[in-house]
Amino acid sequence: MRTGFWIQYAFCTEGTDQLTSINEGNAMIIVNEGVFYNPKMKKLRDISVAFLIAAGAEGMHLLDSTSATGIRGIRYAKEAGIGEVLFLDINPLAYKNTRSNVLRNKIKARVLNKSIQEFAGSVGQRFDVIDLDPFGSPAPNLNDIMKLCKDGTILMVTATDTAVLCGAHEGACIKQYMSKPIHNYLCKEAGLRILIAYMIRSAAQFNLGMEILASISDMHYMRVFARLRYGASHALASIKSIGFGAYCTSCNFFESEAGISPQIDKKCKVCAGKLNAFGPLYLGKLKDRNITGKMLKVAGGFGDKAEAQIKVLHDELDVPFFYSIPKLTKQLGMSSVSHFNVMKRLADQDYKTSATQFDRDGIKTDAPLEKVLDAVKRENS
Ligand SMILES: C[S@@+](CC[C@H](N)C(=O)[O-])C[C@H]1O[C@@H](n2cnc3c(N)ncnc32)[C@H](O)[C@@H]1O
Repeated sequence: MRTGFWIQYAFCTEGTDQLTSINEGNAMIIVNEGVFYNPKMKKLRDISVAFLIAAGAEGMHLLDSTSATGIRGIRYAKEAGIGEVLFLDINPLAYKNTRSNVLRNKIKARVLNKSIQEFAGSVGQRFDVIDLDPFGSPAPNLNDIMKLCKDGTILMVTATDTAVLCGAHEGACIKQYMSKPIHNYLCKEAGLRILIAYMIRSAAQFNLGMEILASISDMHYMRVFARLRYGASHALASIKSIGFGAYCTSCNFFESEAGISPQIDKKCKVCAGKLNAFGPLYLGKLKDRNITGKMLKVAGGFGDKAEAQIKVLHDELDVPFFYSIPKLTKQLGMSSVSHFNVMKRLADQDYKTSATQFDRDGIKTDAPLEKVLDAVKRENS
């Protein structure tokens, strides 16, 4: 469940209990009682503004489908040049709060007190950009969101049910995402890839394929930025980027295989230990470096946190999964070593390496496990 808060102390305006004023980015909003606002999500809102600027969303028509105070749509209009915003929220208090914040910030917008489901079922409208930021899982809303998409729609989706996606409740993940999660150090990356696979399957039903432009796992949330492409061939190509992972608990070997029913060995090919399969999950790239490069150029203005998050994503090697260096030193019965030094040893042998957003002691590399173990041993000797 999402953390956040409803500010408690109140004074009054427009017949609604009013709370405190917040300046965030170029927006000044009031947060009313009973309406969600989490200051810790400023970093993600900063990243989303940087993404929209990088994606060239100026002048576009955006749906903020879960508006709460309206902070996202207002910032997108004022900072990324979004032309017009339609705000939706199922909660009447959020509707009133968004409406007054829209007037306060003088942006071009419509505000509706409707659920995504009611709205998607009643209009034939399609949007250039859609932001979906619900409580918990986005899965129950995705089918309806897809009805509002067209060729080229940019989709920004948040999930805060990270315990489910990370395998703390395996049955819940299977039920919600029809995927078997993995509950170990790989869980954040696997969870993000399970979420993307679910989004791809939802889009494919509407003949939409999905290009992943950026994707983040941080704190208690995951966030995916994607562009949709209309056509059966695009939808099928996206479906083909889905597959399975397999992990050996004895020797930390992992592998991945694309396909709906790929052959996954039951035994680890390194140590003959038991190989645990997980998925289905997305196995493609987690970002478009052209977009993340542009995001980096504008992110400086948002402060260190957003910039650092985008930088690690931009520099991250695009291969599924990574090695946890503390896990490998434990496996070898050795004392800890710097993952930077291990990366340097592998780079000296012409392997590609990078840090990863999923684990500050992890490394992504195209080197096989034996080479990584070798580098760890040499670092220890
Ligand atoms: C996490 S809050 C959104 C926070 C906001 N985007 C921000 O950055 O501060 C989720 C909002 O979605 C609304 N909501 C939940 N289910 C909905 C649905 N089916 N349709 C429209 N709004 C919904 C809730 O009332 C709540 O205001």
